[in-house]
Amino acid sequence: MSSNKASILGIGSYVPDKILTNLDLEKIVDTSDEWITSRTGIKERRIADDNQAASDLGYESAKRALKDAKMNASELDLIIVATISPDMIFPATACIIQEKLGAKNAAAFDMSAACTGFIYAITTAKMFIEAGMYNNILVIATEALSKFVDWEDRNTCVLFGDGSGAAVVGKKKSAKQGYIIDSCLSANGLYVDLLKTPGGGSRYPASKQTVKDKMHYLKMSGNEVFKLAVQSMLEATFEVLEKAKLKPEDIACFIPHQANIRIIQAIQKRLKVPDEKVYINVDKYGNTSAATVIIALDEIVKQGLVKKGDKVLLVAFGGGFTWGATIIQL
Ligand code: UT7
Repeated sequence: MSSNKASILGIGSYVPDKILTNLDLEKIVDTSDEWITSRTGIKERRIADDNQAASDLGYESAKRALKDAKMNASELDLIIVATISPDMIFPATACIIQEKLGAKNAAAFDMSAACTGFIYAITTAKMFIEAGMYNNILVIATEALSKFVDWEDRNTCVLFGDGSGAAVVGKKKSAKQGYIIDSCLSANGLYVDLLKTPGGGSRYPASKQTVKDKMHYLKMSGNEVFKLAVQSMLEATFEVLEKAKLKPEDIACFIPHQANIRIIQAIQKRLKVPDEKVYINVDKYGNTSAATVIIALDEIVKQGLVKKGDKVLLVAFGGGFTWGATIIQL
């Protein structure tokens, strides 16, 4: 069967070994396990080593996804990396990973869509495949956010973690193979200031003053972000279901962006879906931004929580603001 649909051929994920628990954080900032658990659902998060940058984490998940797809890196036509914690402003982290993998035939670029990064990137990959331009695309979401949080700011440092996930996307070749059914993407730049890393760019170039003012750290107005996160992820979920002509009950597993268990529960309540259909791992990893949904997808597949043919809905929301959703048939 010839088709121009895009399938996921392999997935993988990687989180650093080092675990930072809420009890560890109690020793660093004025917080408590009780506060973090009840307000966010997070119990622990992973922290990259001093010598591990976003590309190192991304490289590990990329190798796992390629192995899962039984594909050699030289067969890749394109590498897209979704990250807000790149190794450097430029060149792209995608180029660094391309070289490490030996993916010498692949073009490579980064995407900045914050926590919605994986949804934006896999949708871009889908379109490249469907347009017939490329055959094999590696999508990587990788974050080393521990390097961008202010470890003196209890409002943010308890929330984020490091990790990466990757998916190989290629042409759907047989009727039995699953595919990326549909996606929707949105953005609203009105809210740029609610979630940002202000310093070190061309607006506020790095200087002694920007460093003194801690402008190179991630800043978030948590409460305002919270409300819009619930609203936007619900909107994206309904939009993608409608585009795909599906109902919530057709979905075997919902994977919402893992930022806060209360956001996930608010969405679940409105969607009226049972607990067993909503995957949660925010307790183990905290918010790994672009990587949360692909790490979760890898876990549900590897743990056998879903089976071939099942439909999975990924939905995310993040800085920009950006938000979006995608439905994948496994
Ligand atoms: O991934 C991109 C999207 N990001 C998100 O979706 C995150 C969205 N926001 C959130 O998850 C929540 O808003 C937070 C977890 C960040 C905060 O929860 P909240 O229920 O909205 O709390 P709040 O910001 O209203 O703060 C309540 C209180 C404040 O104290 P006062 O002013 O009421 O005395 C904070 O200073 O909690 C205090 N607080 C803390 N206390 C202990 C803030 N952080 C901490 C902390 N430990 N770590």
